[in-house]
Amino acid sequence: MTAPMLDRWAAWLLERRHGGDAEELRRTLDRLAAVRDRVLDHAAVAPGETVLDVGAGDGLVAFGALERVGARGTVIFADVSQDLLDHDRVLAERLGAAGRCRFVLAPAEDLRPIADATVDVVTTRSVLAYVANKRRAFDEFARVLRPGGRISLYEPVNRHGYPEPPDRFDGYAVGPIQDLAARVVAAGDGDGPADSDPMLGFDERDLLAWAEASGFAERHLELRVDVRPHAPRRWETVLRSSPNPLAPTLEEAMAATLTPDETARFTAHLRPQVERGEGTFTTAVAYLWATRG
Ligand SMILES: C[S@@+](CC[C@H](N)C(=O)[O-])C[C@H]1O[C@@H](n2cnc3c(N)ncnc32)[C@H](O)[C@@H]1O
Repeated sequence: MTAPMLDRWAAWLLERRHGGDAEELRRTLDRLAAVRDRVLDHAAVAPGETVLDVGAGDGLVAFGALERVGARGTVIFADVSQDLLDHDRVLAERLGAAGRCRFVLAPAEDLRPIADATVDVVTTRSVLAYVANKRRAFDEFARVLRPGGRISLYEPVNRHGYPEPPDRFDGYAVGPIQDLAARVVAAGDGDGPADSDPMLGFDERDLLAWAEASGFAERHLELRVDVRPHAPRRWETVLRSSPNPLAPTLEEAMAATLTPDETARFTAHLRPQVERGEGTFTTAVAYLWATRG
């Protein structure tokens, strides 16, 4: 029997993010546990509250919230992926917690299934980057929150460090093959200019401005930029993973843009650096937390 085809969001979170490598998945989830805890700490989630996690994905933040709201609290999982909501419902049933959860198929820009002023906290992690109308999403967060309700979000600010210099490919040195690297990179880029790309066309100042415009009177923002050395990684894992749900895997990008000879040249140059863990990579993320006036 063949496995059912997952939608692109579920396929990425459950498979393509870690290239099917269980060890890589464990490392990713270990790193993200700290992010989840900070998002929930900033929201000051308390027992008995109702938390809405927008773009809940495979439940990283929402299941953490479920522990914090306790037996009298409720967590609403909202997402545009029915596959991920089904996945989360199965996990919640296994935990015996499905009765304290709601699963809502809705985009951040239109949370109509959730009534006005019925939620204490809205969380969201790495979701707004995929939302075209982010201002509208903030209005929706404000609408569903009770007066005094809080938002806490985390977003990569991809504009920092974009574009990479042409002699770098995800931080690896590619000077001698930069013509090939440029073609592989282009396979993962959107069609339009960076400014109108939902993933690139905003930064931390926009997040603050949208929160203010939607009526969040008290606002806090932390921008964190890290330049870290790459850890050694298995080449097969890197080949089969993609950096975000909308991007091809490295293997797919190479197949779409390089001839077999070029693929061999590209691989011969990059693979040893990946396996030895050379070079550095940059991440920039914003934590925003705010209270509705
Ligand atoms: C990178 S994943 C993050 C998942 C989860 N928040 C986490 O922290 O692991 C992006 C999530 O956003 C969801 N998503 C994409 N577009 C969305 C939209 N317009 N509104 C709400 N969720 C969306 C995807 O289905 C996916 O679950």
